[in-house]
Amino acid sequence: MGDTHTVRLEPVGMDFEVDEDETILAGAFRQGLMLMHGCKEGQCAACKSFLLDGEVELDRYSTFALNDFEREEGWTLLCRAHALSDLEVELINYDEEILRSGIALQTVAAEVEAIEALTHDIYRLVLAVAPEQALSFHPGQYVDIEIPGSDEHRSFSMANLPCDDGRLEFMIKCYPGGRFSGLLADGGIAVGQQLTVRGPYGVFTLREKSQRPLVFIGGGAGMAPILSLLRSLAQRGTSRPVVYYYGARTCADLFHLEELAELGSVLPKLRFVPALSEESDPSWTGETGLVTDVVSRLEPDLAAADAYLCGPPPMVDAAIALLESSGLPASNIYYDKFTTTADTEESSRT
Ligand SMILES: Cc1cc2nc3c(=O)[nH]c(=O)nc-3n(C[C@H](O)[C@H](O)[C@H](O)COP(=O)(O)OP(=O)(O)OC[C@H]3O[C@@H](n4cnc5c(N)ncnc54)[C@H](O)[C@@H]3O)c2cc1C
Ligand code: FES
Repeated sequence: MGDTHTVRLEPVGMDFEVDEDETILAGAFRQGLMLMHGCKEGQCAACKSFLLDGEVELDRYSTFALNDFEREEGWTLLCRAHALSDLEVELINYDEEILRSGIALQTVAAEVEAIEALTHDIYRLVLAVAPEQALSFHPGQYVDIEIPGSDEHRSFSMANLPCDDGRLEFMIKCYPGGRFSGLLADGGIAVGQQLTVRGPYGVFTLREKSQRPLVFIGGGAGMAPILSLLRSLAQRGTSRPVVYYYGARTCADLFHLEELAELGSVLPKLRFVPALSEESDPSWTGETGLVTDVVSRLEPDLAAADAYLCGPPPMVDAAIALLESSGLPASNIYYDKFTTTADTEESSRT
């Protein structure tokens, strides 16, 4: 244990204690405070905040998340920052509803129940946790799964609903040579194997108080938390209009079309719009082009919506820029960027 310091959060006026050995984000989680975050590894910028007073030391982070100029100005990443003195931190991106909604972190053992290909490069993984240990989570959240035989982990979002008999369902894109995802494709993770899971994390959850129309934009395995949110909306029978734009390359990258159609029969105001960027088959009669271009073409007025974006970082960044330019306030845009090790390897500072 290192020295302990007090962190004061403004403008919410909350105080909590952190140890020098833990990041400010980890200290907040330990005390049940759900500060804004995404990757927890200095890659996505979701936790970027302004240091009003005090001194911090940063673990390795990507300069895409915090560039040198911002750091000199006083910006910091709460998932990488260790307090060296008492601190006063201004939260730029915060939501009081979410701040107090934290579920205590749990580490559980889970058994691999199923692994199946959804497309040529996206796998469905189902883990079973013993009912007495079942991990609570809000739809839209994610967990960290340990890479077998190492002390590293990877983050994956649940696609199912909580209380599914202790099951956790994931959609995982396989990268050749990927330390975790590669194991699904080559049999390195098999049915019956035990994996260690820690969570829940994430703030990609439904803001319940809002009645604004919902716009979901996702790509690839980014369908996972969006499907969890759609399943939850269907379970509760929302009356809010919902549109889901899903970006993929070709028809071969589409999956779960039947379930999405079924959700449409429970949620009459749900529209599902797949957009294919590289489909050349003339029998495809749906939308073509980058998903953000399709949204821009079909949705002239998004200023009054709540938008939820999830998938690869470039797609999420393009969608944020589009939505902000069409007048949607940043405070009504929620996102999870599926950052990978490739994002820190490209550009990092220690
Ligand atoms: C909050 C959060 C939620 C996430 N949820 C999901 C999810 O639900 N489903 C999902 O599939 N993923 C998700 N991810 C990404 C996931 O955590 C891993 O980063 C991803 O699966 C790659 O891990 P790996 O161990 O297989 O590859 P690594 O071993 O980390 O990488 C292996 C090799 O592949 C290369 N590589 C890695 N990523 C890319 C890339 N994007 N493009 C090109 N090359 C690459 C690397 O350079 C490296 O050489 C999420 C990430 C975050 C931060
Ligand atoms: S949560 Fe801190 S940079 Fe992603």
